[in-house]
Amino acid sequence: MTAEIAVVPGDGIGQEVVPAAVRVLEAVDPGFSFVEADAGDAIAEAQGTPLPESTVETVQAADATLFGAAGESAADVILPLREAVGSFANVRPARAYPGVDALRPETDLVFVRENTEGVYSGIESDLGEGVTTLTRVVTESASRRIAEFGFDYAAERGADVTVAHKANVMRVTDGTFLDSVDAVADERGADYDTELMDALATKLALDPEQYDVIVCPNLAGDVLSDLAAGLVGGLGLLPSANVGAENGLFEPVHGTAPDIAGEGVANPTAAILSAAMLLEHLGHDESAKGVRAAVEGVLEDGPRTPDLGGSATTSEVADAVISRL
Ligand code: NAI
Ligand code: MG
Repeated sequence: MTAEIAVVPGDGIGQEVVPAAVRVLEAVDPGFSFVEADAGDAIAEAQGTPLPESTVETVQAADATLFGAAGESAADVILPLREAVGSFANVRPARAYPGVDALRPETDLVFVRENTEGVYSGIESDLGEGVTTLTRVVTESASRRIAEFGFDYAAERGADVTVAHKANVMRVTDGTFLDSVDAVADERGADYDTELMDALATKLALDPEQYDVIVCPNLAGDVLSDLAAGLVGGLGLLPSANVGAENGLFEPVHGTAPDIAGEGVANPTAAILSAAMLLEHLGHDESAKGVRAAVEGVLEDGPRTPDLGGSATTSEVADAVISRL
């Protein structure tokens, strides 16, 4: 069976790390065919829209998508793309690797972030006279759906579940979120802990080891997972998966890194680990394991890109990963 992979590098270092990850996928050779499509600031300048309809069609037709990053147009690209593939769960593992100078080397956790609503619903108003508002949407159906996904994900891995929220202040919206999670846990006889999201930020920084799978509303998941990136050695290491529906979209957590874009020194690890999540999603578990083991070997022994204290290029790191497969 040949799976078709849409490849959307986007802007900045997306153009560097995504081709590196595609080379790794080609080396693993699970019989994928690749179709490239454009999105982001550059294509917006050329065609007037950061997300051409043809890109949406390519992504929807593909079995999975590997995405890099978009610049200023990120919200206009990634939110519709996640919607286009029907994704409602954003899975973000944050793990410290041997050989990487991490603030908290004991970190090994996974954020399961609600991906469709909350404060990112896009309902903002300018009421004039310096007054602006934002509507936070939290539905029982989406909260149940992410809870079911999170409990399943944790059960498969024998992991504990922590639920982040701020229901003491956002009583109605996060109240709905928490009640929905609780109903799902009840139905499954599953255990979980809850943490206020602000307190969780402190506890993550001080003692990440006590957490496994963290289920969170959209904004909390966005912020806390970036915090976790800091604990494990930087944004260049964190992959993510937008899943839930059959079709999935896989992307590094980082952005376009304009400060280093074009220099060929971006860390391809996050993109390569995103490709490993793509492999797993399509059922190539052994290949995914192989890629992860190769990445871990390279992180431990080098070569390393400058963000990890080395002087290697993106290609050199990708070559090193490929030679270990
Ligand atoms: P960023 O993730 O692009 O960069 C933050 C810092 O981390 C920079 O110092 C950068 O050099 C470093 N960094 C990130 N990835 C790296 C890698 N693979 N290797 C080495 N160093 C790496 O976030 P920032 O600066 O907040 O945003 C830059 C642009 O990216 C903005 O236009 C933003 O809108 C966009 N962005 C897009 C996202 C997406 O498409 N999903 C996500 C986040 C930001
Ligand atoms: Mg973010």
